[in-house]
Amino acid sequence: MSKLKITDPDVLIIGTGAAGLSLALQLPRHLKIIMVCKNTPNEGATYYAQGGIAAVQQAQDSIESHIQDTLTAGCGLSNPEVVNFVVEQAPKSVQWLIELGVKFTQEQQDGELKYHLNQEGGHSHRRIFHAKDATGKAVSKTLMQHVLERDNIEILENTMAVDVITDQTRCLGAYLYNNKTDTVTTLSARAVVLATGGASRVYLYSTNPDVSSGDGIAIAARAGCKTNNMEFNQFHPTCLYHPQARTLLLTEAIRGEGGKLLLPNGEPFMHRYHERAELAPRDVVARAIDAEMKRSGLECVYLDISHKPYQFIKEHFPNLYEQCLTYGFDMAKQALPIVPAAHYTCGGVQTDLYGQTDLPSLYAIGETASTGLHGANRMASNSLLECLVFAHSCAKHITSTIDLDAPLAQLIPWDASKVINSDEAVVITHNWNELRHFMWDYVGIVRSNKRLQRAQARINLLKQEVQDYYSQYHITRDFLELRNLVIVADLIIQQAIKRKENIGLHYNIDAIDETVDKPLSA
Ligand code: FAD
Ligand code: SIN
Repeated sequence: MSKLKITDPDVLIIGTGAAGLSLALQLPRHLKIIMVCKNTPNEGATYYAQGGIAAVQQAQDSIESHIQDTLTAGCGLSNPEVVNFVVEQAPKSVQWLIELGVKFTQEQQDGELKYHLNQEGGHSHRRIFHAKDATGKAVSKTLMQHVLERDNIEILENTMAVDVITDQTRCLGAYLYNNKTDTVTTLSARAVVLATGGASRVYLYSTNPDVSSGDGIAIAARAGCKTNNMEFNQFHPTCLYHPQARTLLLTEAIRGEGGKLLLPNGEPFMHRYHERAELAPRDVVARAIDAEMKRSGLECVYLDISHKPYQFIKEHFPNLYEQCLTYGFDMAKQALPIVPAAHYTCGGVQTDLYGQTDLPSLYAIGETASTGLHGANRMASNSLLECLVFAHSCAKHITSTIDLDAPLAQLIPWDASKVINSDEAVVITHNWNELRHFMWDYVGIVRSNKRLQRAQARINLLKQEVQDYYSQYHITRDFLELRNLVIVADLIIQQAIKRKENIGLHYNIDAIDETVDKPLSA
C-alpha cells in the first residue's frame, strides 16, 4: 500500500480520517489522487469516535430544531448560513454512509426495525446515528474498504506533510517526509487538501490519538492562511480516571441513556449548574466538573449508569464495558471515576462553504478547518457530520475548477545539504513535555490573564528554540510535530488573550463579562 505508484497527482489529500477518505470517494474517478497519513490509515480521531453522527430522522424532530441547538451550543458565534447548510445536508450524508455499507445500530420499535438514535448534550431530540459505542471504527473501515477498491487513489503510510509549497499566489504541492526511509519527497499537485484532524494533543491530557498535533493548522498558518476560533478548545467531560487509561473517553451517550455525574459521596451536582443537568452543553459540564474538583480538592468525580440493567449496558456500550473491565471497573455495578480531557479543536483554518482557504488551490476540511459551524462550542456528534458535508462540497469545487491541461509546477527539491544530525534530541522530548504541561495548567478549562501571559512568555522561548533546531538539524517526525504544536499553542494563546468576554469554551476568571457558569442555586 505504501508504494508510490501515482507520480503526478491531480489532488493531494493530507489525512485519511473521515474527511480525507470521504473526499477521495466523492472525487471523480478520472482524477489521480494521492493520500498521505502519518501512521497507518486508521490512526486518527475518526477511528475512535464513539457517540455517532447527528442527523434529523424522527417525525417529532426537525431540521429547525437541530439548527437551533447547534446555534445555541455555539453561543451565537456560529455562522447561521453554514449551520443551515450542514444540518440540511445531514440526512443525505448519513444515507450515503448507509449505502456504502455502514451498519448503524437498529432496534425493533412497534414491530418495525428502526435506527436507534442516541441523545447527547445540547441536542433537544434523539438524533444521533451510531454503531453501538464504536461508530468511528465502523465508518473508518467502510470508507477505507471503498478507497482501497479505487485504482485512482494511492495511500502513502508513514508519510508526514512538512509544509505546502506556494508561489505566493497559489498552492503548488507539498514536502512529504517518510519516517521509515527518513527521506523527503517534493510533490506537485493541482489541488492540496489539509484533512489532518485537530490539535488536542497540545494539552497534557487528551482523548485524541498522537497524530492530532494540529499539523494542518500549523502548515496553513505558515503558508499565510487565516486561522480563527483557536481559543475554543473543547474539553470532553468524561474520560476514565486511571493511571493507564488517561485517554479512554466514556461517551456522552452514557449520560444520554440516564448516566449521572456524582460527587464521591454519591451526590449529583449538575442540576446546580444547568437546567439540562447532565445533558447541558459540553463546555458547561466540563467547567462544572472542574469547579467541583477544585472546590473540594478532588482528583476525579464519578459517572454512574449502574442503575440500568446489566443487559442494557452490555447491549448499548459493549466496547466500553469490556475496556472498563480491563481497568478493573464494572460499569454495570459501580460508578466510574472520571476527569475532563482536551477533545476537539473548534477553531482552525478559516474556510468557505467549499473548504477553500484564502490560498487558491489549498483546501482544509474536517477538524483542521474552521468553517463557522461550531462557533464557541461544538455540539456533540456534529463533527463527523461536518467532515462528511464539507468533503462533499469540497469535491464539487475541486471537480468544477481543476485545470487538467495546465502543466504541474516544477518545484525545487527539498534541500538537506546544510543541516546535520542532531546530538541533542532530548530537547524535543523536554520541550514537548513542557509545552503540554503549561498549556494544561495555564490555557485549560479555566484561564486567567496572568496564566495566559505566563504561557505567552514560555511559548515565545519555545518558538525560538524550535526555529534554531529546524535550521541546524535533520528533521524527524517528533521534531516536526513539536514544531507544529508550538505554532498551534501560540495561536491558541494569542486568540485567548484577544478574546475579552467569557463565551462558550473560553472562560477567563478576569473577564469583565462573567455571563456563564454561575451555579443555578447560587
Ligand atoms: P482525523 O480522523 O483525526 O484524521 C487525521 C488524519 O490526518 C490521520 O490520517 C493522520 O495520520 C493525518 N495527518 C495528520 N497530520 C498529518 C501530516 N502532517 N501529514 C500527513 N498526514 C497527517 N465526533 C463526532 O461527531 N461524533 C463522535 O461520536 C465523536 N467521538 C469522538 C471520540 C473520540 C475519542 C475522539 C478523539 C473524537 C471524537 N469525535 C467525535 C470527534 C471526531 O472523531 C473528529 O473530529 C473527526 O473524526 C476528525 O476527522 P478528520 O478526518 O478531520 O481527522
Ligand atoms: C462522545 O461520544 O461523547 C463523543 C461525541 C463527540 O465528541 O461528538
